[in-house]
Amino acid sequence: MDPTSRLTELAQGYRQAIVLLTACKLGIFAALGRDRRTADQLAGQLKLDARALETTLLALAAEGILQYQESTFRIAAPYREILLPAGERSQSSIFNHNYNCLQRWCRLGEVLRTGQCVPEPADESDGDSLRDFICGMAEISRGASREVLEKVDFSPFRRMLDLGGGPATAALEFARQYPQLRCVVFDLPDALAIAREEISRYGLTDRVQTRPGDYYQDEFGEGFDLVYISNIIHSMSPADTAMIARKTRQALLPGGTVMIKEFFLDDDRTTPATAAYFSINMLVATEGGKSYTLRETREILQKTGFRDFQTVELSAASRLLIARKDGE
Ligand SMILES: C[S@@+](CC[C@H](N)C(=O)[O-])C[C@H]1O[C@@H](n2cnc3c(N)ncnc32)[C@H](O)[C@@H]1O
Repeated sequence: MDPTSRLTELAQGYRQAIVLLTACKLGIFAALGRDRRTADQLAGQLKLDARALETTLLALAAEGILQYQESTFRIAAPYREILLPAGERSQSSIFNHNYNCLQRWCRLGEVLRTGQCVPEPADESDGDSLRDFICGMAEISRGASREVLEKVDFSPFRRMLDLGGGPATAALEFARQYPQLRCVVFDLPDALAIAREEISRYGLTDRVQTRPGDYYQDEFGEGFDLVYISNIIHSMSPADTAMIARKTRQALLPGGTVMIKEFFLDDDRTTPATAAYFSINMLVATEGGKSYTLRETREILQKTGFRDFQTVELSAASRLLIARKDGE
């Protein structure tokens, strides 16, 4: 692509993102379900303006996300299970969370001028936004956890701490595959309310427990042979990450293992691009968060008393950094 076309495509990328995310957030896909509807029928059902809705639906049809036939709209088959809520392949909660993120991204200019992240918008502190965030984590972690299971042997582990485990997805996927494994999911109380629903749904209440706590304030417990830390340190400053590494070390038995899953940047700090952009997500939403490079994370762990580093490549620009607690 020539440079003008490439820049124009980048500059206009907001159009597709906003149409898709707004349609998801306003429940347009959920209302369509597996049926065909006219714009008027849908507008009546969702109490939306019919002209505005038809214009938006036609743009989605232009992308091939909806099929448009005889004035009716239907979700195209390849996208249906992804856009409809609650199914095994659904991404609707994470798209709703992306919609919430978008409100902050639009204020990047302000962040550049002040150096301060965007305060949580008032309408994001409601229960729906938290549920979108936590259930969105389950949607992206399910596949990622299964990929980790394909690449890492968990048979040596008996007692795992899932730090900031959110909806308990990793703990549940790992415990389901390894019957010897018992897990504790450490997170804030509101997130754990959702985790408990998931634990019951998987039927693993005997082996997956929850521990409410704040990882900045509280200790993590002790006697674990594995601490799993997925998509957590990107919300923290390097000083806080070092503090988490120290507490993790304390929670581990001698020779215990830490696994950190992240959108790690390469040491050049620009690749993969997904990780470079994820750093902006953290810039606008947190005080000190960012995408870490593998090298700087390794250095933090090394200084805290970890060794024997291994890296496992995962899809979706994620990687797993594995290390062992130094002997005492
Ligand atoms: C990006 S999510 C990652 C969830 C999960 N580990 C995963 O990979 O899907 C971050 C998690 O950290 C939790 N969290 C945020 N601040 C926390 C704190 N101060 N103490 C404990 N958990 C916290 C959130 O509730 C959320 O579940």
